Amino acid sequence: MTGQTTPTAGPQEAGATDRPGLVMEGVGLRHGDGAETVQALDDVDLVVRPGELAAIVGPSGAGKSSLLAVAGGLARPDQGTVTLAGVDLTAAGGRARAKLRREHVGFVFQSGNLIPALSAVDQLRLPMRFRPRRARSGRDPLALLEDVGMAGKADRRPHQLSGGERQRVGIARALVTEPSVLLVDEPTAALDRARSHEIVRLLAREAGQYGVAAIMVTHDHDVLEHCDTVYEMIDGRLTALA
Ligand SMILES: Nc1ncnc2c1ncn2[C@@H]1O[C@H](COP(=O)(O)OP(=O)(O)OP(=O)(O)O)[C@@H](O)[C@H]1O
Ligand SMILES: [Mg+2]
Repeated sequence: MTGQTTPTAGPQEAGATDRPGLVMEGVGLRHGDGAETVQALDDVDLVVRPGELAAIVGPSGAGKSSLLAVAGGLARPDQGTVTLAGVDLTAAGGRARAKLRREHVGFVFQSGNLIPALSAVDQLRLPMRFRPRRARSGRDPLALLEDVGMAGKADRRPHQLSGGERQRVGIARALVTEPSVLLVDEPTAALDRARSHEIVRLLAREAGQYGVAAIMVTHDHDVLEHCDTVYEMIDGRLTALA
């Protein structure tokens, strides 16, 4: 069932022409070969508008991380198209895809994936140095840390931060280059209830305020109230729930 995957109205129509968000159409992805193949994504249609936070729930092995990998140009689908910021990712070559990724995609991984030797503010400065020359100017690292409630701990390294604080820095780092699309895999897996709500509220607020099309994978049904749209993934097939 993929007919219901187009949300009726994004929360932020403004900016839609500037950054058209993410569009996936008829996307299929198979892992492995021979008898061992798994259809990780099966005819997936998904539209995430600028400013919208979409949640994806579903059992382990359903294909949720595979969807994020394809949406962000880390994996190339066998079928269908992925359009990001108005550009067809699936038609782009390896180098063009890498450039699109650097310029338009922010990833937040479950662990936060911070670099142990760098302070919080330096985690944000690093991706700014690797931007393509004509990319957007980016956000000010210290102001962004302030935005996510981490300004007071800008000089701390990851081991001096709690799990929730590391997640905040990871989110800030993904946003510092002003991506069109933010992809977040299980941001609350290691957090208690109160912190989980804080993190997802933060994602919704940043997406809405900066016109980012955001997708969050989660097992946590508790936090879905902060999301604009909710999808369920089962055996590679995506269905709209709300
Ligand atoms: N590189 C790979 N090679 C072969 N099979 C893979 C590969 N990556 C994922 N798979 C398989 O594809 C399917 C979807 O995996 P995926 O990681 O997308 O699931 P998921 O929904 O994110 O699960 P979880 O909730 O456990 O993280 C699974 O059956 C998995 O075993
Ligand atoms: Mg996963």
